[in-house]
Amino acid sequence: MDKLVVTGGHKLKGRVTISGSKNSALPILAATLLTPEKCTIHNVPDLSDIRFMLAILRFLGSEVTFEHGTVTVKAEKIHAEAPYDLVRKMRASICVLGPLLARCGEAIISLPGGCVIGDRPVDIHLKGMEALGAQVATEGGNVVARASKLRGVEIYLGSKFGSTVLGTDNVMMAATLAEGTTVIEGAACEPEVKDLAEFLNKMGAKIRGHGTRRIEIEGVKGLHGVEHTVIPDRIEAGTFMIASLITKGEVTVEKMEPGHLNNFIERMKSCGAQFRVGPDWVTSTVPRKMASLDVVTETYPGFPTDMQAQLCALMSVTDGISVITDKIFPNRFMHLPELKRMGAKVDLEGSTAIITGVPGLSAAPVMASDLRASAALVLAGLVAKGRTEVNRVYHIDRGYEQIDVKLRALGAEIERVKSPA
Ligand code: EPU
Repeated sequence: MDKLVVTGGHKLKGRVTISGSKNSALPILAATLLTPEKCTIHNVPDLSDIRFMLAILRFLGSEVTFEHGTVTVKAEKIHAEAPYDLVRKMRASICVLGPLLARCGEAIISLPGGCVIGDRPVDIHLKGMEALGAQVATEGGNVVARASKLRGVEIYLGSKFGSTVLGTDNVMMAATLAEGTTVIEGAACEPEVKDLAEFLNKMGAKIRGHGTRRIEIEGVKGLHGVEHTVIPDRIEAGTFMIASLITKGEVTVEKMEPGHLNNFIERMKSCGAQFRVGPDWVTSTVPRKMASLDVVTETYPGFPTDMQAQLCALMSVTDGISVITDKIFPNRFMHLPELKRMGAKVDLEGSTAIITGVPGLSAAPVMASDLRASAALVLAGLVAKGRTEVNRVYHIDRGYEQIDVKLRALGAEIERVKSPA
């Protein structure tokens, strides 16, 4: 397995271009199953999760190409059973459920298993499909959903953790071809959900209210091919801003959407970071010492859970005591024991990390457990004394396009060491 070796102590400086959003691209790719016509999607990041999704689409019968960030998909003749071997590799594959059910009248998808960031049920996705009129059963580890006709309905999609992003996506996609109007209350407002809705509307869907808690979908008879450009990845952008702050450097993050990170930027300002913000770029600096922070992750526009691990890395070298609670994924703290091995002073109480800032970290071999945890360990490595080895780097390749190349261009000392074949 490849690893990243990071030698800390270099201030990052320069410009970095942000890739297209993984979490937007994945459901948008799934949505291509809703039409037999060709869809062209630009700004698709070349990530292993994207490659998994393309493999699923090919398996289902779609013709797929992927070159220079542009994907074309033609789902002319498809079938409705997604293969276990591909689905188990990526939880986001559940978002083919809605499109398959709407297009084929059935969907058979293996139930996503456990996940290191916590129990990740799909009960709300299934509740949504049932409300639209599908019969849903679990057979031999598969979700089997069937419906001769989907019918519009009013449905509340909240969970005890707030709204669900892919659950909202799934129901919204299925409802595009249902008879009548569907109203989703408690919908997720994330920019990625809005991007998907805009993609669907270009295909001929009639969706209103996306980006708010109430989405209305008027069913249509059919959808057509479309061309679309995926929004920039706000989490990649935020991660590079932290790379700038943690090394006390000056990095300009380009081709991003600053408005998608308002909450993050405000929180960082409150503890001493400074930002210059342009229409599609942000420069981050730390003119003085940063202060500690209390943060609770929330659904959009709150502080994103996908930035929690990276924030823990930053706060572990920031004066004072920070208190960071993850309300979305209460068990998403696998990075803490690894940060501890690098000298961080952290305690976990329930779903709250209590971090006492230390003057410096020291390098250690560490193990990535999931995508954002690996990003946090790389960030910690940028300031740790010595050579930090981040093992199991395939996690980071699921969600960051060439992170080592981008960091190196900013002055980081980082290399990818290939494991012997
Ligand atoms: N939940 C349920 N039942 C469901 C669905 C969700 O109880 O049927 C709970 C979850 O267990 C969690 C909360 O609701 O506690 C929110 O989960 P959500 O469904 O919103 O997560 P998701 O849609 O599966 C997406 C992103 C995640 C991101 C979350 C939250 C994609 C492909 N994944 O997951 O991204 O953390 O929304 O914003 O869009 C990442 O990129 O690192 C990542 C994990």
